Amino acid sequence: MAIRLGDIAPDFTAETTEGTIELHKYLGDGWGVLFSHPKDYTPVCTTELGRVANLKSEFDKRNVKVLALSVDAVDSHKGWINDINETQGCTVNYPIIADPDKKVAELYDMIHPNALDNLTVRSVFIIGPDKKVKLMLTYPASTGRNFTEILRVIDSLQLTANYQVATPVDWKHGDDCVVVPAIKTEDIPAKFPKGHKVIKPYLRTTPQPDL
Ligand code: BEZ
Repeated sequence: MAIRLGDIAPDFTAETTEGTIELHKYLGDGWGVLFSHPKDYTPVCTTELGRVANLKSEFDKRNVKVLALSVDAVDSHKGWINDINETQGCTVNYPIIADPDKKVAELYDMIHPNALDNLTVRSVFIIGPDKKVKLMLTYPASTGRNFTEILRVIDSLQLTANYQVATPVDWKHGDDCVVVPAIKTEDIPAKFPKGHKVIKPYLRTTPQPDL
């Protein structure tokens, strides 16, 4: 059955460029991003994996472990990493899962045969510390993802988890947040001492609480 938001991210054991990984153990108490790409030695994928390597400190800051996947084997991944490092000015510093038997790809429904025959599309799963799936994205092979946007989503998810705020359209770090509907307006001042605005009874905003 397809994975849905709120489901426990299916656990697996897989070979990676950094040894054998069990997903849930690897994530520990932190957050995770599991992302697939179609194939080693392909141009868009090369730029994506380089970008993720160069953003690694941003993921670390947020207590997020990144884990890439493609259906190629470990030896192929290791050879390709040299090209990624050379062309993208990076050092790939996170594991890439080898999934030649497509075990993980099938578990996560990453193969969409009507879009791309027998290869994984560009899937992203953000997994919370409770091991539940918080976000899923699917991009076609021809469009590289925006990993700055993925960091922005992680910031939003972590604000919701830690402070009971949501983030409005086009929100960016530092903008006002939305108080979640579960909080009564009369309870807002105690919970959000930085202040709040009631624009409509159902639309209440507050400054970003963690700044
Ligand atoms: C790429 O990464 O450039 C790519 C991979 C598979 C199909 C099309 C493009």
